[in-house]
Amino acid sequence: MKFFLDSANLKEIHKAKEHGLIDGVTTNPTLLARENSDWKTLAADICKETKGPVSLEVFSENYQGMLEEARNLIQLGPNVVIKCPCTANGLRACKALSDQDIAVNMTLVFSPLQALLAAKAGAAYVSPFVGRLDAVGHSGMELVEQIIQIYSNYEFSTQVLVASIRTPTHVLESALLGADVATIPFSVLLDLLKHPLTDKGLAAFRSDADKLVEKTNH
Ligand code: E4P
Repeated sequence: MKFFLDSANLKEIHKAKEHGLIDGVTTNPTLLARENSDWKTLAADICKETKGPVSLEVFSENYQGMLEEARNLIQLGPNVVIKCPCTANGLRACKALSDQDIAVNMTLVFSPLQALLAAKAGAAYVSPFVGRLDAVGHSGMELVEQIIQIYSNYEFSTQVLVASIRTPTHVLESALLGADVATIPFSVLLDLLKHPLTDKGLAAFRSDADKLVEKTNH
């Protein structure tokens, strides 16, 4: 299972990278707008900082605009994946870009049928938004399960990239279902590690190690 960092913050990306925890990065206009810098320079810096794929989203909603933006975005780094919204124009752009061997991540996916269309359009990744679905009383993980089932029925190679992750449980359930990728906010990535019994056990070992050292010194 691959972990992507869901962030446009260079410090977070650098820290996660230092710990060897991430295989790629996903951004969106909201994440880029949160940072106080020129978004294109930032996007290019993120591509440089990241070894794996970096998803950069088109701003246009029309077909020609998406293709034009995609052509510019791929100049920002060799690892750029074009993110298109799951609309009729987005699917058409996905097909055209995939036919030119440009990797596309279909975003804003909220139904299994949208995911089926994304796969048929040749998407490299499909991004079901689990947290946003849970927030309106649906089950994000049920959607992930359905997409994995459909893709396995027809042997689609589109990777299931679980997005809009809010909790470590979303990551755990994604792993149990066999999702290809989870894109994780930095705070949730840190939470994956936390366990009170690890802290308690470490404190006990530290205290006993101190006793052993003291004994050796006497
Ligand atoms: C990732 O590719 C998505 O853009 C992201 O996970 C959206 O998550 P949000 O619901 O936190 O905005």
